[in-house]
Amino acid sequence: MCGIVGAVAQRDVAEILLQGLKRLEYRGYDSSGLVILSDNGELQRIRCVGKVNKLSRAVVESPFLGATGIAHTRWATHGSPTEKNAHPHISNNTIAVVHNGIIENHSILRKKLEEKGYTFTSETDSEVIAHLIHSHLKVQVSLLNAVQKTVKELKGAYGTVVVDKNTPETMIVARSGSPLVIGYGLGENFVASDQIALLPVTRRFAFLEEGDVAEITRHKVLIFNADDNEVTREISESQVNHDAADKGQYKHYMLKEIYEQPIALKHTLDGRLELGKVLDSAFGEKATRIFKKTKHIQIIACGTSYNAAMTARYWFESLAGIACTVEIASEFRYRKSVVNENSLFVTLSQSGETADTLAALHLAKEMGYMNSLTICNVEGSSLVRGSDLVYMMKAGTEIGVASTKAFTVQLAGLLMLVVAIGRHHTISVQQEADIVSALQRLPAKIEQALTMQPAIKLLAEDFADKHHSLFLGRAEQYPIAMEGALKLKEISYIHAEAYAAGELKHGPLALVDADMPVIVIAPNNELLEKLKSNIEEVRARGGLMYVFADKNAQFESDETMKVLEVPACDALLAPIIYTIPLQLLSYYVSLIKGTDIDQPRNLAKSVTVE
Ligand code: M6R
Repeated sequence: MCGIVGAVAQRDVAEILLQGLKRLEYRGYDSSGLVILSDNGELQRIRCVGKVNKLSRAVVESPFLGATGIAHTRWATHGSPTEKNAHPHISNNTIAVVHNGIIENHSILRKKLEEKGYTFTSETDSEVIAHLIHSHLKVQVSLLNAVQKTVKELKGAYGTVVVDKNTPETMIVARSGSPLVIGYGLGENFVASDQIALLPVTRRFAFLEEGDVAEITRHKVLIFNADDNEVTREISESQVNHDAADKGQYKHYMLKEIYEQPIALKHTLDGRLELGKVLDSAFGEKATRIFKKTKHIQIIACGTSYNAAMTARYWFESLAGIACTVEIASEFRYRKSVVNENSLFVTLSQSGETADTLAALHLAKEMGYMNSLTICNVEGSSLVRGSDLVYMMKAGTEIGVASTKAFTVQLAGLLMLVVAIGRHHTISVQQEADIVSALQRLPAKIEQALTMQPAIKLLAEDFADKHHSLFLGRAEQYPIAMEGALKLKEISYIHAEAYAAGELKHGPLALVDADMPVIVIAPNNELLEKLKSNIEEVRARGGLMYVFADKNAQFESDETMKVLEVPACDALLAPIIYTIPLQLLSYYVSLIKGTDIDQPRNLAKSVTVE
């Protein structure tokens, strides 16, 4: 969840590190810090509580010069967000370390190190890494060897970067469970937890594999696997847009990303639909063979990705006639479950690094699932590298902690998957052609949905002083209600719950009064009349309703019900289209409330710890 940047260069690196941290701030933003090795071999450290801007200002006031350095932006796990808990951590004024992940056996290691005379200055698990390396360096011949010895004693997850004041032009980096990417420059080299941090300085990257340890100097990168054998890792040219981390004309990344949805959807569909068919090649070379055998779908995800998976469950069973189960990754990984025959294990993830989802994939392999597929937005991520089949979302970098464009693009990818597998079950040639044609209309439909912005902005004023809200939907709109509620609570801090509308009278109806706004997602489909009865149940209890529906659903606004007109669309696309006004609603409510929209409290974009 934290962000790491390191550089061994032939120029002062402070600015490179700070720029990198700024671009990584979405990963954690409660404190930050850096260490730069001065020309006379001293470790210069600065740490601040708060955002990277604060660190930048402090660095400007007392410039730190030096061509080797490491930096970190933190999302606290062990120890509160204070200056002494911020990274880098230093041992004996010699070794400096930044760490992403959790060292599970830190208490035992800490005790042993204290017995050896080491003094700890923080409450973090990470500090043990610095002291352990220092202790091993007393007997090992090099910093590389000391780090190799150290990582063998660590249990848990780490992406770590280490510098030693006695070898000022070297960084040692190690990866297990938390991603690290090496950036290759000209006469200088870099490391980061996400390539986006390094795009201003290089586009050539190699992703470290699990267990890798690397020695990085200005002119050379040596990589060793978990058995300490030297290995090569492919260096590839990044396709990620350099400007992806700019807000452009928008006040927040979230708003930018909401408005990027038509283009993101266009990119995800481009080259993947042809002559009324979904091309299997969108999922990888072995897709056709695997899809033919598939009899069951198991989807695993977290958060917004889980909500997308829940929507797809309706599609798999109603359109494709294939059984689909969906589970939250953190639940799946810790319970005993049964593998269905010929079950395709599907992971959904924007980042591709979500710790629980990744652990679930590893477990699925041990359990003997037939094959795995991931729908993921980040090239080279752990889920992408670990799955048999891959659907690259091509949504473009998503920076806002609240996931928006990733959700609608995931839904489009899932619909393609439903078709690609479903044609071996109940989806006919004509049905496939109809779905493909609906998908092709999707970007334009999203444009239309975005024109609801002025109405939603006004609506937001009704919500800003509320403390609670209910979101209702039926069938595939129920997960859309879940997503609407997640968005609202995540960035506005208003408590929001989603219910399948039919569940209301089994308990939640007791909550309804004039202070509880109820949002109803009411597309014009076969369940509309049922939903109208649910609406009457709320109305009879004095509830205040906001109904999202198209003209044909024939709702009329009155003193207890405000109708928000959503552009009419294919029933199939309705879950994707109805998501747009809900995203805008949470954005504008939060804008009025003045919350930190892109970096809401207590959260981080990429949840790389469990
Ligand atoms: O990167 P992933 O899609 O695996 O992330 C899963 C969740 O952490 C993520 O969707 C989270 O719920 C978002 N903050 C929701 O907006």
